Amino acid sequence: MIPISGKTRVAAVWGYPVAHSASPAMHNAAFAAIGFDAVYVALSVAPENIAGAVAGVRAFDLLGVNVTVPLKELVMPHLDSVSETARAIGAVNTIVNRNGELWGDSTDGAGFLAAIESTGVAVNTESRFVVLGAGGSARAVVYALAERGANVVIANRNADRAQTLANDFAHLPGQITRTDYDEAGIGAALAGGATALINTTSVGMQPNADAIPPVPIAALSSETFVADLIYKPRETLLLVAARERGCQTQNGAEMLVRQGAIAFEYWTGTPAPLDIMRQAIR
Ligand SMILES: NC(=O)c1ccc[n+]([C@@H]2O[C@H](COP(=O)([O-])OP(=O)(O)OC[C@H]3O[C@@H](n4cnc5c(N)ncnc54)[C@H](OP(=O)(O)O)[C@@H]3O)[C@@H](O)[C@H]2O)c1
Repeated sequence: MIPISGKTRVAAVWGYPVAHSASPAMHNAAFAAIGFDAVYVALSVAPENIAGAVAGVRAFDLLGVNVTVPLKELVMPHLDSVSETARAIGAVNTIVNRNGELWGDSTDGAGFLAAIESTGVAVNTESRFVVLGAGGSARAVVYALAERGANVVIANRNADRAQTLANDFAHLPGQITRTDYDEAGIGAALAGGATALINTTSVGMQPNADAIPPVPIAALSSETFVADLIYKPRETLLLVAARERGCQTQNGAEMLVRQGAIAFEYWTGTPAPLDIMRQAIR
C-alpha cells in the first residue's frame, strides 16, 4: 500500500451494495506496484445520491471512479462527455477526471475481448458466438463482438430483452439474432460448432452456485470455447460441464482484471501490472 501523504490522489468504486467488490484490492496493489501516489476505496452510493456523488468527484478532485451495479446507467447524464461505446451501450463503468472535465467510458466490452483473445479465441467476421443473457454485461459483450464483425446469437430468459438488444445493435457489422433460452434454442444455436458460448447471466453465481443455464451439453462441440463472466465461484457448474466435455474454458476473473486494467491505464498513463492485479483478486 502507498504511504498516504498530502499529495495522495483518491480513486473509488461506487456501487450499491459495494462491500463485496474486488476492485480496491486490485487497484491498490497496482498503484503500489508502479509507485503511483493514489489510494482506491469502495463507496456505497444509493441511486438517489448519484448527482451528489458526481459533484463530489469535482469537489474533491478525485483521480477517477469505477461505477458498478446499479449506477452504470444512472451516472451517464451527470458527466461532461462519454465515449462512443458508453453512449451505444447506455452505461459507464469508468469515470476519468481530466482536469475537472468528467469523461465516462465502458471498459467491460474491451476487457471481455482482451480476456478471451488472451486464450487464442479469434473474434472476426468468421466467428459465431452464442451469448446467454441480455442484461448490462451482455450489452457490453454483444456490442464488442458485433463491432468486430462477429456473428452473435442471444438467448435470454426474457425474450423481448434479447430482441431489443439485437435491434439496438443492428447497425453494427456483425449479424445479431435471438434464440429461445431453453435446451432446444441454445442447442440449435450451438449446432454446427459455434466459436464460443458466453454466459453473461447471473445463473450459477454465489450464493446460487448450484444453478446452471439450460445448455444441452451433448450439443456442445469440444471445439467450442466456453466463458462465464462469473468469477465467484471460480468454476461455475457450466464451466465444470464444459471442461468435462473437453472444451477450453475461462471464468470472469480475467475480464475483471482486463476491464480494470483499462481504467488504470486511463488514470495513470502507465501500462497496468496485470499479474499483480490477477494475484490481488485471488
Ligand atoms: N467478470 C466481469 O468483469 C463481470 C463484469 C460484469 C458482470 N459480471 C457478471 O455477469 C453477471 C451478470 O451481470 P449483469 O450486470 O449483466 O446483470 P443484469 O444486468 O442484472 O442482467 C442479469 C442477466 O441474468 C439473467 N438472469 C438472472 N437471473 C436469471 C435466472 N434465474 N434465470 C435465467 N436468467 C437469469 C437476466 O435475464 P432476464 O433479462 O430474463 O431477467 C439477465 O440476462 C453477474 O454474475 C456479474 O457478476 C462479470
